[in-house]
Amino acid sequence: MRRQRSAARSSALHAALLFFGLHAAPLPAQDVVSHEAELESGRSHYIANCARCHGVNGGGGEGPPLARSTLPRAPDDAALVRIMRTGISGSAMGSTWWLSRESLEQIALFVRSLAPASADEAETLRGDPSRGRTVFEAEGCDRCHTVRGFGTGRGPDLTTVGSRRGASYLREAIVDPPAALPRGLTAMPSDFVDYLVVRAVDRDGRAVRGVRLNEDTYTIQIKDARGVIRTFYKPDLQSLDREFDRSLMQSYADRLSEEDLDDLIAYLATLTGSELRGIS
Ligand code: HEC
Ligand code: HEC
Repeated sequence: MRRQRSAARSSALHAALLFFGLHAAPLPAQDVVSHEAELESGRSHYIANCARCHGVNGGGGEGPPLARSTLPRAPDDAALVRIMRTGISGSAMGSTWWLSRESLEQIALFVRSLAPASADEAETLRGDPSRGRTVFEAEGCDRCHTVRGFGTGRGPDLTTVGSRRGASYLREAIVDPPAALPRGLTAMPSDFVDYLVVRAVDRDGRAVRGVRLNEDTYTIQIKDARGVIRTFYKPDLQSLDREFDRSLMQSYADRLSEEDLDDLIAYLATLTGSELRGIS
């Protein structure tokens, strides 16, 4: 008798939910409310802690898109919570040690709820990756980048760039390189900007311009255009300028058509390194 009554109540609730446009959630009312509340706090923790790198809707940016049906490195919620807790070493993604386990679980809930068909994925899919590969070769991108060991390593290796970056960031890296100076590709602290162009002038007025490799309180290491690495003792320098508005990489905004650019981004997005895992 009691069971019948509660069944009747829940089917009335069910009808009410349908009536108000909420889809047939087979959960009792209280659970529906708390699920919504958890999702909502997951969303606000996500906006505060993740959105600047993964995009407000999970479309990706400096970090890869999270609005995907499967996350290779976070196949389940436990793995997702673990990744947030530890961060990813050698990348800009640090630990979110200040969040409680409960908050991390709420974020995981929210990340799972993101629609897989985000705008960013649509952008990735717009181009043709095999044409993009031809553009990559024709434009000589391999003069500075390596992909699976081929090319020259003056700039970052791109073998796994598709698993590290979202399409919006890839576009920016190609049309406005200084805006996308990468953080945390090397073993330096994750707020260290890699490939920063610097200009040092020593006591005798000799200037060296190149890419900063390392820097601490007293010393800086610079790799010049010929690939020669020099270390300077900073108190000995007349001046040291960090050129945040420059990159070794020129902008391709005027060289590539919209179509070439879409194809190139689609090609880069396929470089996830997953084909390598099978080999090793
Ligand atoms: C400062 C930027 C930054 C912030 C903030 C950040 N991430 Fe990341 N995240 C990255 C980058 C970059 C990568 C790719 C790392 C790599 O592979 O080198 C990444 C990778 C990931 C991955 C792995 C995806 C896969 O391919 O399986 C997950 C999951 C993830 N982040 C979730 C989060 C969540 C959730 C938050 C918020 C708690 C967060 N990240 C905050 C930059 C960030
Ligand atoms: C003269 C050397 C040079 C050439 C040529 C070059 N790049 Fe770059 N690229 C760099 C450097 C250096 C960086 C590091 C960030 C910066 O300085 O902008 C970089 C960064 C990138 C990034 C961001 C990588 C990351 O993980 O943050 C992408 C993507 C990229 N380049 C793609 C390309 C493509 C595509 C081409 C050809 C159309 C190309 N590059 C040509 C030197 C070059």
